[in-house]
Amino acid sequence: MAEVIILPSPTAAGSLVADEIVRLVQRRPDAVLGLATGSTPLPVYKALVPRLQGVDVSQVRGFALDEYVGLPEGDPESYRAVIEREVVRPLGLDPARIQVPKGSLDGIEHAGEDYERALTEAGGVDIQLLGIGTDGHIGFNEPGSSFASLTRVKTLTEQTREDNARFFPSIDDVPVHCITQGLGTIMRARHLVLLAFGAGKADAVAGAVEGAVTASLPGSAVQLHPHATVIVDEAAASSLRFADYYRYAFANKPAWQGL
Ligand code: F6R
Repeated sequence: MAEVIILPSPTAAGSLVADEIVRLVQRRPDAVLGLATGSTPLPVYKALVPRLQGVDVSQVRGFALDEYVGLPEGDPESYRAVIEREVVRPLGLDPARIQVPKGSLDGIEHAGEDYERALTEAGGVDIQLLGIGTDGHIGFNEPGSSFASLTRVKTLTEQTREDNARFFPSIDDVPVHCITQGLGTIMRARHLVLLAFGAGKADAVAGAVEGAVTASLPGSAVQLHPHATVIVDEAAASSLRFADYYRYAFANKPAWQGL
């Protein structure tokens, strides 16, 4: 089972994860970060800014989880643009070392394979940040995604398009297709850190952590990973059956263990 940590706020979660990432980069200056987009990881990126002052990040590498297919090059809601705005620039990373799956229609047939190759050549992801969709997706692996899947084009569910419509003028502007690391790709990362905040995520979190391991709830793949940490606020924890145990275990966590 994944370790579940319940914290009072997204800010507290951001600090905890940022501390872990700083320790990683200090230990391994060319660490490979697995980057997520959407609202959930923002407190982590915010907390990293002051913590990385004076830390050499010139060798740090990064791979985004996913990208929309077919948005015009440079569209501000493309995940390439979001990663540059929210991560690369504020943290002072080298843009040449940060990769995002290519969502342009030109070459889309081999974009998944190319991304898998780049991930393998980089030696894999050290720490993978994940959010979870209200329908249980991680990356954009919608319900039904194979646990062995690799980076490929997927069709977004109507639910996901509705959830993400807040970033676009209207739901009709939300792309129908995406390219996403597969569940098999994500599972190869050495440490998974899944974050979820707010009551809207409570059912997806409980299903992922305590429900059956099933492709119908792709986030449940974290139960099969040897090192998965799930960090939630009280609202996102509100459907967890063993919440008291998770609190007790975290309060008694040996100091040497880290995340
Ligand atoms: C984003 C991603 C998605 C989001 C999920 C939650 O790169 O892969 O799985 O993490 O849709 O989105 P937010 O965080 O906006 O609620």
